Amino acid sequence: MYTDLEAKLHDTFWNQEDIISELPLLQDFHDKKTSLEIGCGSGRLLLPLLHQGHPIDGVEISPDMVSLLKQNAADQNLTSKLNQSKIYTADITEITLEQTYQRISIPAFTAQLLTRKKLLHLLRKLHTSTTTCGQLYITLFIPWAEIAGELNEGDWYIDHEAILGNDQKTTAQCKTKFTINRLQQTLSRKHQYTLTHQNGKKQLHRSSQILQWYTYPEIKLILAATNWNTKKLITDLEPNKEPHPDAHILTIIASKT
Ligand SMILES: C[S@@+](CC[C@H](N)C(=O)[O-])C[C@H]1O[C@@H](n2cnc3c(N)ncnc32)[C@H](O)[C@@H]1O
Repeated sequence: MYTDLEAKLHDTFWNQEDIISELPLLQDFHDKKTSLEIGCGSGRLLLPLLHQGHPIDGVEISPDMVSLLKQNAADQNLTSKLNQSKIYTADITEITLEQTYQRISIPAFTAQLLTRKKLLHLLRKLHTSTTTCGQLYITLFIPWAEIAGELNEGDWYIDHEAILGNDQKTTAQCKTKFTINRLQQTLSRKHQYTLTHQNGKKQLHRSSQILQWYTYPEIKLILAATNWNTKKLITDLEPNKEPHPDAHILTIIASKT
């Protein structure tokens, strides 16, 4: 669950990542159909989609993230649009959705925060939460640097740093340490977030998460086993290129069978 400083610094650090924005893919996918984003966080993707007129609901497990979503909507004059959407503050694996959707997306690697068992359960559930011809969008990553041993397992390293505030006098840092299980395809990460204010006062927040990764043939089989037919693979968020064999980001679009 993203809480406290991990929630507050999520968008700052995410926007620093040297990856192409996922937004154009989501615009094409949601295509003004009735939609849901799972793990909508602070609205980094959901708010621009709402702004462009895509009717989209969200599910977010972290109340801190939902507070940021409301604040960001207010800052962007999108509160009335957000009020027309249903935002579930809940664990997607545990709630009953109030309606069916034509499009459901799970962007930004959120599906990897679930265990394999929970992902299977979720994919079955989403099957009943989509309309006939409904479509599903999932973006996953493969942690090649950790798999290949390019990062040292068990050592703290600086994952992100940023300078914040209008006065540029607050510094934010995230240190990370991981262990990897290549057999089970899990990456266990510990994070230490610090915010250092101008007066030297520090705020600290620790978190940990276990990420499950999937190869493309494997996720295709999992989708087929849960009655989803893989229609399209996009790698590294580049829809106009052939899928790259060394890709580390996989976006899969599947339709209901
Ligand atoms: C990597 S962040 C992505 C947030 C947002 N989609 C974005 O791209 O900025 C993953 C989000 O999924 C949420 N999340 C994780 N597990 C969840 C669950 N079981 N149900 C609902 N939300 C969940 C987290 O709290 C977090 O906000």
